[in-house]
Amino acid sequence: MKFNIEILRKNLPEYLHTLQIEYFEKIDSTNTYLLKRKKFDNEILVITDFQTAGRGRFSRSWISNPAENLMFSIGLPSIKVSDLSKLSFLVPLSIQESIAEVLELNLFIKWPNDLIIDNKKVCGILIETLIENNENAKVVIGIGINVNQVEFPAEIKMRAISLRAITNKMISRELLLAKIISKIFEYLNSLPYNFEMIYEKYKNKCTGLGKKISLLFNDKIYSGLLNDINKSGELELLIGDQKLTFNSGEITILKE
Ligand code: BTN
Repeated sequence: MKFNIEILRKNLPEYLHTLQIEYFEKIDSTNTYLLKRKKFDNEILVITDFQTAGRGRFSRSWISNPAENLMFSIGLPSIKVSDLSKLSFLVPLSIQESIAEVLELNLFIKWPNDLIIDNKKVCGILIETLIENNENAKVVIGIGINVNQVEFPAEIKMRAISLRAITNKMISRELLLAKIISKIFEYLNSLPYNFEMIYEKYKNKCTGLGKKISLLFNDKIYSGLLNDINKSGELELLIGDQKLTFNSGEITILKE
């Protein structure tokens, strides 16, 4: 069934009733749409039921059946450049907590911002930035969540799972999205005084800390101990007595 914006709007807190929301039955990519459009002077939420060119991290594609999952982007017109790295704590944490509250399901965060269970991905996040000047940036936060899709194409079957497949329940996409949007904005508004708490909560939900991992970064694999994720969002890897920090990449946990 088509995504129902009215149900979403009704379930947002009052201060978000004026949030600009655009829905497309089909679009190339909600992130690409907002990046091309550039001009958004207010916060905006773009939702679609199908993407013909959905994009993931590392120029991968994001594949999702029509009208079964959540695919959306949030455009933030002005974020302090110094706050940009905080988004990769705040956004996955908001989604993790929303899913825990709505479905009583405890997903893990895999650095930097995937949500996983049993090593399978439920949610991916692609944060893209349009730097305006030294101080401010426009940000597009793209989120894809596998909600009600049960069959996945062969190429992602081993790595993807949906909330429905885990819980055995059909899930209301509108109610789940209302919770996620409420939480993201709640945390965004509290960021100036709440960052420490957000950072600690994020690390608490992170999988792999203190474990042996391998990291794929720029076509090279690094193996070591996941020592920490610092407050700038970088991963600290201990290789022998050397400590290396990485600001992006993909990790695999070698020993639980
Ligand atoms: C990843 O895990 O690689 C990130 C996936 C992000 C997918 C979402 S779906 C909505 C938005 N539009 C896109 O083209 N990508 C993001």
